Order: sequence, then structure tokens, then C-alpha cells
Amino acid sequence: MSRLFAKKPLSILLNEASDSEKGLKRTLSSGALVALGIGAIIGAGLFSLTGIAAAENAGPAVTISFVLAAVGCAFAGLCYAEFASMIPVAGSAYTYSYATMGEFIAWIIGWDLVLEYALGAATVAVSWSRYLLEFLQKFNIHIPHQLAVSPWETITMSNGTVVEGGIFNLPAVIIVLLLSLLLIKGTRESAGMNNFLVILKVAVVLTFIILGWSYIDPANYDPYIPANTGKYEHFGWTGIASGAAVVFFAFIGFDAVSTAAQEAKNPQKGMPIGILGSLVVCTILYVLFAHVMTGLLNYKLFAGDAKPVATAFAQTPYDFLQTGLIIAILAGYTSVMLVMLMGQSRVFYSMSRDGLLPKFFSDVHPKFRTPWKTNIFFLVFVSLFAGLVPVSDLGHMVSIGTLFAFSLVCVGVMIMRKKMPEIPRAFKTPLVPFVPIMGIIVCVYLMYSLPNESWLRLAVWLALGLVIYFTYSRKNSKLNNNN
Ligand code: ALA
Repeated sequence: MSRLFAKKPLSILLNEASDSEKGLKRTLSSGALVALGIGAIIGAGLFSLTGIAAAENAGPAVTISFVLAAVGCAFAGLCYAEFASMIPVAGSAYTYSYATMGEFIAWIIGWDLVLEYALGAATVAVSWSRYLLEFLQKFNIHIPHQLAVSPWETITMSNGTVVEGGIFNLPAVIIVLLLSLLLIKGTRESAGMNNFLVILKVAVVLTFIILGWSYIDPANYDPYIPANTGKYEHFGWTGIASGAAVVFFAFIGFDAVSTAAQEAKNPQKGMPIGILGSLVVCTILYVLFAHVMTGLLNYKLFAGDAKPVATAFAQTPYDFLQTGLIIAILAGYTSVMLVMLMGQSRVFYSMSRDGLLPKFFSDVHPKFRTPWKTNIFFLVFVSLFAGLVPVSDLGHMVSIGTLFAFSLVCVGVMIMRKKMPEIPRAFKTPLVPFVPIMGIIVCVYLMYSLPNESWLRLAVWLALGLVIYFTYSRKNSKLNNNN
């Protein structure tokens, strides 16, 4: 039994950190950290799921859903920052939990992070594909719908064509393929490129808000909180909570800020500013954006619409700007997908180095020095999901998986404070245990607000993980075999 909870000694972790991350310089100012966060955060959650959450869960009150989701993220983000400043090693929450809660929980988190990163990339890819179709349509280029829609999805194009179930979402697969190849080659997003994409994304959001504002029809806000239909997730206050669980996806990525703790000029100040700053900026932008979107068009008309920006913007006379906005959205998505695909390969790389997954996953390419086999494995895995699964199902899976991981990180901070109070932390979560406990409460509440199928899928995914752990990982764990 105790083997299940064997912890990876911190000294080993820190040695690994100094081996593999040698030479990291403390170059990131608080402003750069905020930009890093925004680059990883703004993506499909805003540009796709806002419409879906408004149509199916919250109506115009999706604005309140955004605020609720942001609160949960802020609590969890502060806990992430403490861990990241203490254990600045690749592998994110998986690595933190190996040192604090032992191998079994670490395995569960690592396995669960596949939902956040790999399926997160798939979700963004499907939304990317939807905007690409819209873009091509403007030039009268039509990809056969059978090759652009998943078999279980019905979509309405802005020219009114309804497409019910295709064969495979090919454009989504192509973008995953291109970005995976880029990662294998080892392109590290430069700060300059990230800043450019951040400016582009913020410009899209501001253009939409400013130009759309005068065309808001107040009738679309009536009622602001549509009455609950009798089903938990359909409108009313419980619908707002369900909407928060859906749009929670829009905030994922701020954990990328915490992984830069070792590169922050002044982590004690820079981490909370980077995490909370990017969350505050995004929350304000999101609320205004959702307000304009649901003001331009009745929320019901966004049902199943994965490119609501185009749909809503068509209500304004600035339709001619749409093509520009869509190009910016397509470009802006790439930074989000890269962060997710890279995060995924880093987690599997770490798990494989620890012996919990076959060595295949930590094989490094002789020339490019990247975990290329993991990248190819996830190229196939992510492509299958991006090609076959509807965007809202994907989004729900990502949200439930990430909320689960966030809750465990909050638990981890409390355990670490009790068991290892002496270890230096460049950043300390304020008000422990209040902040982690609130993080757990909000995250679990949001999980509870997701549809039952998401729970079922999470359970099946975790059960599969347990089978692999007990048949393979436990026997091959380096930590256990050294004991
Ligand atoms: N927050 C990222 C997005 O919305 C994952 O695309």
C-alpha cells in the first residue's frame, strides 16, 4: 500500500530541474508574464464556446458565468504559482503531486491532464476548422462538408446551409498535423511572436466590442436570466453555473504562467501579477465580449454555432471587416494549440522518465532534441478526437478534467505546507488554507454543474488509467524499483 503513495524526493526533482533547465534566465517582467498568460488563454473558449454556453445554459447571463469561472481560476491559480515557484520542473501538476501526494495520485493527475492538454488542443482545432470554413466560403471555396464536420455534429453555415453529420473534420486534423510537426522541429515560441499574437487577439476582441456596441438590441437581453426549464443545466441560476463550467475552458492556459516561475525576474511579485493580471484582463474582455455578442443576436440563435463571432458580427454594417477578424482568430488560435500540444508532450515525457509510461515517450530526437515520438503519438490521438467528436462534447471533457486537476493542486498546496514547511518558495499562496479550500469548492461545484455524460466519460477515462497503472506503471516505476 505504501508503495502507492511513494513520493519523489524533492532533491531529485530539483536536481532534474537544474540538469534539464540549466541556463534559464530570470528575464520575464510582470508585464511579459501577463502577455504570456493572455497568449495562452484567449482562444476557442471565447470565440466558440461563448455562443454555445449562451444558447444552451445561461442566455445573456453567460457574462455572470464568465465571472464565476474566473473566480475558481484565481483561487486555483494562486495555488499553482506556489508549486511552480517551489518545483520549477517540466510536467506541471503531475510533477508537483509526485512530490507531495505520491505516485498514485500523480499518475491520476498526469493521466487526467491528457484531457486538459490533448483534448484541449482538439477542441481548439475543431473551432479553428469552423472559422476556416467560414473564411474559405467568403472566397467561394467550399470544402465538401462531409470532410469538415464530425459524424455527430450538426452545423449551420452563415449562408444558412445546415450540415448534419459528416465523416471527418479534415481541416482540424491538418492544423494538428502542422503544429505537431512544428513542435517536433523544436520551435520555441519567441516572446516577440507571442506578443504579436496577443496584440492580434486583443485587437479582435476590442474591435468586436467597440464596433458591435452600437448595434446591441436591448430586446435581446430580455430576459437577462432566462427561467430554468426544469433541467439543471438549462438556464436560471443553475444554468449560469453550468455555463461557467463550459466557459471555464476559456481560462485554461493561465497555468502556463505558473510554469515560468523560474524565469520570472521577481517571482514573489511577478507570479501573482502574471496569473491574476492575465485573468483580470481576460475576464473584463470576456464579459464585455459576451455582453455584445448576446446583445447583437438572440442567444437562442447561437445553438450549435462554433463560430459565433462571424454570426454576430454579420448583424453590423462592418461585415467587410469579418475576413480580417477571422484571419486574426485563425492566427491567434495557433499559440493556444502550441501551448497545449507542448504541455501534453512534456507531461508524458516526465511520466515516461519516471518509468510510469514506456520509454518510447521520453525518446528524444537525435537532431531536434524534442520528444518526437510523443508528439507523433499525440498527433494521431488528438487528430482522432478533433476529426470525430463535436466541439461541445470535447469542451466539456476538457473542463471536467482540468477542474479535477485544479482541485488536486489545491489539496497539494495544503499538504505541502504541513509536510514540508521549510522548503523555500519563491511565491507563497496567500491565506492558506482559505484560498485552496475555496479553490476546491468552486472547482468541484463547476464539475458538479457539467452534464452527467461528462462525469461518465471522466470515470471511464480514469478507470482506463487505473488499469494501465496497475498492469504497467506500478511495476516499472523507477522510484519503486529503487526502493
Ligand atoms: N483558453 C484556451 C482557449 O479558450 C484553451 O482556447
